[in-house]
Amino acid sequence: MKRTIYFDNAATSWPKPVSVYRKMDEFIRKWGANPGRAGHRMAVGAERIIEETRYQIAQFFSIKDYRRIIFTLNCTDSLNIGIKGLLRKGDHVITTYLEHNSVSRPLEGLFKKGIITITRIHHSEDGFVDLEELRNAFTPKTRLVVVVHGSNVIGSLQPIREIGKISKEKGVIFMVDAAQTAGVIPIDVETDNIDLLAFPGHKALFGPPGTGGLYVGPRVDLEPWREGGSGVDSESELQPEELPFKLEGGTINTVGVAGLGAGITFIQKEGIEKIRQQEMELTKYLLEKLSGMREAIIYGPQNGKMRIGTVSFNIKDLNPAELGAVLDGSFGIACRTGLHCAPHTHKKLGTFPEGTVRFSLGYFNTKEEVDFAIDSLTQISA
Ligand code: ALA
Repeated sequence: MKRTIYFDNAATSWPKPVSVYRKMDEFIRKWGANPGRAGHRMAVGAERIIEETRYQIAQFFSIKDYRRIIFTLNCTDSLNIGIKGLLRKGDHVITTYLEHNSVSRPLEGLFKKGIITITRIHHSEDGFVDLEELRNAFTPKTRLVVVVHGSNVIGSLQPIREIGKISKEKGVIFMVDAAQTAGVIPIDVETDNIDLLAFPGHKALFGPPGTGGLYVGPRVDLEPWREGGSGVDSESELQPEELPFKLEGGTINTVGVAGLGAGITFIQKEGIEKIRQQEMELTKYLLEKLSGMREAIIYGPQNGKMRIGTVSFNIKDLNPAELGAVLDGSFGIACRTGLHCAPHTHKKLGTFPEGTVRFSLGYFNTKEEVDFAIDSLTQISA
């Protein structure tokens, strides 16, 4: 079989560290019971691992109370729980044109039902939101500012600390979509002034698909939209008020959470700064090589600290979907093409509806893989 060069880490990271595979295998064989639902040894063992992982995540994002972390299915799930659990009739929301559909669709749905109004802040050509426009967008009805930390299309990083500060000064809840940054960019909910942090487990945190989380800060009270078994207060007619139970009805993905814990342990052992630096060096290398191709059009920031390892580009006169198919079929390069579930961003870029080719690099990619990809693109465009 041809080798695979995996440049689709923005969709989900692959491969995972070996310790993640091992932990999941061990967990399901040994501790595959339902945590918190019984007092037997297996259930208690499962619960211990889940709660240790919750605690580990709290430390990772500088969260003071680990019970304020809810395990979810993925980042979309976390964003929906936060957005729909918070917003009420008459609320105003500030967001950007860089959002993924996981933010823009729930917001647009609430808008269409007449529940909320929305203001979208513009961004510069290389993908940075206009902070002055943000400052002027608040109204007495503004309840939420929700912003994607790292664009999943062009890789630009927003200054969340500054945005959080502005939101706090205005007394407004600040939600961060950390789909592309949790695990590779240090996030501190206290100094970054974050009230709601939505993160996937299966991207840069190296957990498996089917994992994610939501941090719910003390200024926020969310209505649950999934009610049911919690393992506590079973006599009560209603969902318990206590976190995490309030928002975590039903059996969670225990084996996935165990794997997520192993993923975070891997990051802690390697060091997030080392991971970030390596990804940045490789991204810089890719950008330099792409810039050297006459036919390449690159979108987003071309250098600098305020970006992640997600690079969107097109090759002149080639359709991105067809180019992606040839990269995969003839060269074994896995990447994502099209709109990346972020149509507003592409409309602003002028790449709607065909979109772009996206290479999203991860910790396990190498320079040699980038060289091979550039050679492949050169051959195809010739
Ligand atoms: N949001 C993921 C991506 O950008 C799935 O590919």
